[in-house]
Amino acid sequence: MQHDKVLILDFGSQYTQLIARRVRELNIYSEIHPFNKIPTNIDDYKAVILSGSPFSVRGDEALHPDLSNIRGKKPLLGVCYGAQYLAHFSGGNVAPSNTREYGRAKLSYVKEGEAFLEGISEGSQVWMSHSDTIKELPTNGELLASTHDVQNAAYKINGETTFAIQFHPEVYHSTDGKQLLENFLINIAEVNPDWTPDSFVEETVEALKAKIGNDKVVLGLSGGVDSTVAAVLLNKAIGKNLYCVFVNNGLLRKNEFENVLNQYEGMGLNVKGVDASARFLDALAGESDPEKKRKAIGRAFIEVFDDEAHLIEDVKWLAQGTIYPDVIESVSATGGPSATIKSHHNVGGLPDFMKLKVVEPLKALFKDEVRRVGASLGIDAELLGRHPFPGPGLAIRILGDITAEKVRILQEVDAIFINGLKDWGLYDKVWQAGAMLLPVNSVGVMGDERTYEKCVALRAVESTDGMTADWVNLPYEFLQKTSNDIINKVKGVNRVVYDISSKPPATIEWE
Ligand code: XMP
Repeated sequence: MQHDKVLILDFGSQYTQLIARRVRELNIYSEIHPFNKIPTNIDDYKAVILSGSPFSVRGDEALHPDLSNIRGKKPLLGVCYGAQYLAHFSGGNVAPSNTREYGRAKLSYVKEGEAFLEGISEGSQVWMSHSDTIKELPTNGELLASTHDVQNAAYKINGETTFAIQFHPEVYHSTDGKQLLENFLINIAEVNPDWTPDSFVEETVEALKAKIGNDKVVLGLSGGVDSTVAAVLLNKAIGKNLYCVFVNNGLLRKNEFENVLNQYEGMGLNVKGVDASARFLDALAGESDPEKKRKAIGRAFIEVFDDEAHLIEDVKWLAQGTIYPDVIESVSATGGPSATIKSHHNVGGLPDFMKLKVVEPLKALFKDEVRRVGASLGIDAELLGRHPFPGPGLAIRILGDITAEKVRILQEVDAIFINGLKDWGLYDKVWQAGAMLLPVNSVGVMGDERTYEKCVALRAVESTDGMTADWVNLPYEFLQKTSNDIINKVKGVNRVVYDISSKPPATIEWE
């Protein structure tokens, strides 16, 4: 089934992905393309949205695409830079603003009876983030809304289905932003809102069946949300022809390998658990440089996975849990589009499994959509709500070199911390949590004995994507109990500290 699609032209705004997500929350499929790479099949898109930008329309470097195949031909919405662009190059005037226009503002005027503003009234909060302002509307422009400081906060161009807003409807602080997008897309552009997790599952399964036929597919499971959802989708499409490999690198959380493997088997997946702990520990022996540790783990994984792939006779495809943010082409600060990701397959010198054809069933989804699709597939909520966990696992949480004993200590500490978060109802309030084993011994006293043992740091952060993060204000009582439990129960640890650094300038992991 073909769904109506919305095209979002990216001018480099930090909020472009948010526009796409808000549109998709309306059950409308949207795609982001760089401003200077307008798809040639423009007729396949029912409406177009122009994003904001760090650039000024007044500058020499102004991003200036040719919209002649779009303007006046299909519904068009300009947001921030998009609104200024539509004004400045069409008979209007954009100039630097005299007052700061960042943050909250309230609509002080709203034209009555306007379909674009249906359900939005004076006083509605909108979010501004711009330094230029639209002084004069373009030819045939008609004012639709103002704020106290911004006269031309919204306008339309008569004779076209073109609308423009200076504020950002995509950020949550714009209270009626979603309503506004709904007005534009559903009421005005008549886009059919039929793109739902259920329809995605149904259509993707059919497409996978058609694409893969009776071929065999190999997929590396990590225990994370993306690879799990990809596996369940493929399993629905091709059943036992999907060969899942779940590798124990010996750096997973306590009992994780056994527990997750059981869960996968319970879900009916054709999965093989491969315990390669010793191989990874060998590869890491004596290594304490963080990047070299990562590389050693990466190499070991490729070897193990390649060995496993060779055991599957006549396998044709490699499945990956790639998601949409990994493949969106971003607009760089210099205005030129830059690819964010390169494919690594079908290149000489690579392990054999990497020469397989690649299938990426989640390539069109944002992370929150992967979770919704997972729920629609009936995957356990607990599995879908798991904190992110780095591929190199505890190796980058053990500062310095890795030994089996250090891994054991950290697994115990981590288990007390994570189980405690669950018991106290805090786990879902935290985006990611874990413990770090520090390369310092300090003096303590237990009973009458002097100790000289390891120190661990606990880290719990809130974040949306891991790019920025802040430490979580966990209750003192919880920290007190956790620290007590760790020191009393984990032999070799006599001190616990809590990391109160934000990212930036710190990072989430310590290595
Ligand atoms: P940082 O430490 O860079 O972490 O603030 C941001 C997010 O990325 C995860 N992370 C990794 N994930 N391989 C991974 O698969 C890695 O080498 C790696 N390093 C960091 C980290 O857990 C956090 O979610």
